[in-house]
Amino acid sequence: MSTFAILTSGGDSPGMNCAIRAFTRTLIFSGHKVYGVKKGYEGLIAGDFIKLKASSVGNILQRGGTFLQSSRSEEFKDKKFRKIAYDKLKESNIDGLAVIGGDGSFKGAYALWEDFKFPVIGIPGTIDNDISGTDYTIGHDTAVHTAVDAVDKIRDTAFSHDRVFLIEVMGRRSSSIAIKTALCSGAENVVLPNQEVDYQDLVQSIKRGESRGKKGSIFIVAEGAREGRSYDIQKNLQAKYGISSRVCILGHIQRGGSPSPHDRLIATEMGFLAAESFLKFDEPKVIRQKNGQISTASFSECLANDDGIDFEHIEVIKKISI
Ligand code: F6P
Repeated sequence: MSTFAILTSGGDSPGMNCAIRAFTRTLIFSGHKVYGVKKGYEGLIAGDFIKLKASSVGNILQRGGTFLQSSRSEEFKDKKFRKIAYDKLKESNIDGLAVIGGDGSFKGAYALWEDFKFPVIGIPGTIDNDISGTDYTIGHDTAVHTAVDAVDKIRDTAFSHDRVFLIEVMGRRSSSIAIKTALCSGAENVVLPNQEVDYQDLVQSIKRGESRGKKGSIFIVAEGAREGRSYDIQKNLQAKYGISSRVCILGHIQRGGSPSPHDRLIATEMGFLAAESFLKFDEPKVIRQKNGQISTASFSECLANDDGIDFEHIEVIKKISI
């Protein structure tokens, strides 16, 4: 019998609980012990572990967030603290650690392997869908659902008042939520993170709509490096082009809520494969979805920098919003 642990790290995302549940029950089914680590790497350093029974992960499938809680740990970037965490894992006779999170969390997990050869498995969980090596990260679908639902509601006002709306969605480096939300809500244009705003293009979109009698327009803005960039765009549209607009920042409502069936399914498959991968562990792996299949990839593939901008979909948004 072996003992394994699981933690969630970085921004929470809907479906993380489904992955914890599948991981825990798969290992208990095979006769192993499982610990949950509270509050991500902070809890790992503190040795804050709770023994999980099959019933401990009951009734969490439908809940958003992570019942283990999460953190963005600065300390874990320092080898001194990773050593403390490693000692805590050893003291509890833990043989392997599964980490659900984004690329920052994966860097931490891989460092634990590189420093101490401690077995780790990564499970991609972030609403941003921005990890290279996997086509999907747990929580993305639910976040897009939430954003599209919100834009549908705002569209009612955009139409009723002939207004231009700048609707800001999450994604510090990732354009994925913005592009999908724009496509699925019929937005007139999309502003990507970390790119200069093309005002001429935005104004043209508004004019194009006006020429066929549509005065309201919806622009989806990816937040980029800083939440609230829509207010700068709003000011410039007014000052340089005399265009009045309203801003709506969707913010953390995109991170919460009950996971969609798609997220429940993928998270369950990923949690299951993570558990199975520990039972035949040879080297650290990340569970990923590639070409519709749940499989494994190396950490190096999943830690490569890749902004992954979906230019094809941007082209579609422009062409069909005429
Ligand atoms: O988890 C990803 C994400 O929601 C990004 O889209 C966003 O930029 C960031 O986290 C916000 O982080 P927090 O509010 O947790 O500091």
